[in-house]
Amino acid sequence: MTGKVLERESLHACLDSPVMGSITFLNEVMGRFPDAISFAPGAPHTAFFDDIDIPLHIARYRRYLEEERSLTPAQVDRLLYQYGPSRGLINELVAQALRTDHGIDVPEESVVVTVGCQEAILLVLRTLFTSSRDLLAVANPCFVGLTGAANLLGIDTVAVDDTEECLDFAQLDEVCRRARASGSRIRAMYVAPDFSNPSGSRLGLAARHRLLAVAEREDFLLLEDNAYAFTATDAAALPPLKALPGGERVVHLGTFAKTCMPGARVGYAVADQPVRQPSGGIGLLADELATVKSMVTVNTSPISQAVIGGILLQHRGSVAEAARAKSELYQRNLRVLLHALDRHLGEGARAPAGVSWNRPRGGFFVRLRLTVPADEPLLERSAKEFGVLWTPMSHFYIGSGGDHQLRLACSYLDPEQIEEGVHRLARLLRAVCP
Ligand SMILES: Cc1ncc(COP(=O)(O)O)c(C=O)c1O
Repeated sequence: MTGKVLERESLHACLDSPVMGSITFLNEVMGRFPDAISFAPGAPHTAFFDDIDIPLHIARYRRYLEEERSLTPAQVDRLLYQYGPSRGLINELVAQALRTDHGIDVPEESVVVTVGCQEAILLVLRTLFTSSRDLLAVANPCFVGLTGAANLLGIDTVAVDDTEECLDFAQLDEVCRRARASGSRIRAMYVAPDFSNPSGSRLGLAARHRLLAVAEREDFLLLEDNAYAFTATDAAALPPLKALPGGERVVHLGTFAKTCMPGARVGYAVADQPVRQPSGGIGLLADELATVKSMVTVNTSPISQAVIGGILLQHRGSVAEAARAKSELYQRNLRVLLHALDRHLGEGARAPAGVSWNRPRGGFFVRLRLTVPADEPLLERSAKEFGVLWTPMSHFYIGSGGDHQLRLACSYLDPEQIEEGVHRLARLLRAVCP
């Protein structure tokens, strides 16, 4: 290598946070053990990629613009090939899908179409958090994209335990009390009520109402991430926080990565909260997010938005319909995983001591508890000697925690791989948890 060498310590301190290394760490381990069965990545299954017809989706969206919006072909060209509005192009279709699929009834002006849900998280955090007195409460363990974005922006997080049963509401009360006593405030709380990443846990209906009531009493906003809600069966689906009474306090965050395709990098934020301007006029929080976005990614690729728009139009404006086959595949994979765990690690299967796991009813993830540390040396041994990879749960904990837990993701694998992977995992666990 040539050129001036930069000292690592001369770069921003956010790079030193452990959360920043966790994706690189997993990619590195997967790269070193390409033949291992990997329960590590929460990536969508590739089975549906063959059916993606990009030109067809774009053509459908173009036709919609010409026929429904009365644009000329030249105007459509400009819309798709030129820089575009920071707020987005397909906001109307996103608002319609939210109404159809989730009963979230918001004007299209309150939607900002973002470069994945990850950008939506970044924009919301940047806009809401103004000083070191503003704290972000998070359901712990937590999606690393959220803790990583908070770290980039220098936002302090406080943990509220997300146990197998429920959020620890007593701890949330205590977190709020302590923040007040120290002159800080909980500005917002991040939750993924439907099958969270990493623990697969879910907030029941009573807990959703209770959380909204706490947010009201303590005057904070809820940041609701609904990335995995589409994996609920129709019978088991619960209303999102945003659609419940008190939902005005909720900024709803979504992604088309799992429901349509991750490569499009399209997500959104719904921010219909009124904002009083210094002039006295009232705007929307979405306007402010769009202003921040104009200095981050300018606008989400119109071509990508056209692809997602075309997919929505193909499915009568419903993401749930567009993602029905995917939802069924993920439900099947989860059943296969739970069944394999029962057979290889459950009672009567020479069960290793003290191994237990939760039984999510949707999502991509299962949380396994061990009596020995599920740490990086164990992962290394698991990969080298047993040919199976997983994610140490400690990566997802704020501060310390999760040392004896691991995350299994079942989204990316086929049933035979899940079966064989659990078989290998069981051999590892029998060797280390006698
Ligand atoms: C809970 C959660 N939210 C958001 C995202 C990121 O979504 P996107 O790919 O749209 O940035 C993920 C990705 O894995 C996720 O697990």
